Amino acid sequence: MAVRINPSILSADFVNLEPDLHAIASADLVHVDVMDNHFVPNLTFGPQMVGRIQDVSPIPLDVHLMIEDPDRWAPGYAELGAYSVTFHAEAAGDAVALARRLREIGSRAGVAVKPGTAIEPFLDLLPEFDQVLVMTVEPGFGGQSFMHETMPKLRLLSDAVSTAGLEVWLQVDGGINEDTIAIAAEAGANTFVAGSSVFGSPDRAAQIDLLRTAAAAHSHQ
Ligand code: DX5
Ligand code: ZN
Repeated sequence: MAVRINPSILSADFVNLEPDLHAIASADLVHVDVMDNHFVPNLTFGPQMVGRIQDVSPIPLDVHLMIEDPDRWAPGYAELGAYSVTFHAEAAGDAVALARRLREIGSRAGVAVKPGTAIEPFLDLLPEFDQVLVMTVEPGFGGQSFMHETMPKLRLLSDAVSTAGLEVWLQVDGGINEDTIAIAAEAGANTFVAGSSVFGSPDRAAQIDLLRTAAAAHSHQ
């Protein structure tokens, strides 16, 4: 079953990131939330920190940019060698041009939508992206509750991806735990970000396994 579990280090210990990165080595990718205190009210870190995470992480980086003007800043994260760079549709000037630039540099290109943003305008543009991130909480903070009302967007995306025979990953982020992961997988997600559920658990590897098993049992793939 092709499901991916991407723990979010937003819930890790920011002054002890290296051991926390090693504790999630059995996951697929490490989800790195970049927040600029403008696009979202919270502030995390920028390219210098992401570069060091890239240096020490045993698994590749899934960078989620919650920043203004990604057209200007996102390519820098691809240049650092991030496996995947996802920017927000609401913040991008030209999402297609930016995705093309990210791919040209060598990263997978992702576009993210907040809970209130419609997905329809992107359905015809899916070949331009490697990943679509459907936010299942309002971006900005870990530990929020999963918003069930975002699931119809995944169903639309999942149908569009299979009708067109594409391989676009469908990612969910926010409030994912061993219960909600089944709901999101059922709706068509195949790539799952989990912050507090993984880092709040005393055994991170066991929690990653639990999430993977729950997602695979409900996955369409
Ligand atoms: C929220 C971030 C998420 C966050 C998810 O804006 O994009 O990646 O870490 O945290 P949980 O899994 O705790 O909801
Ligand atoms: Zn995120």
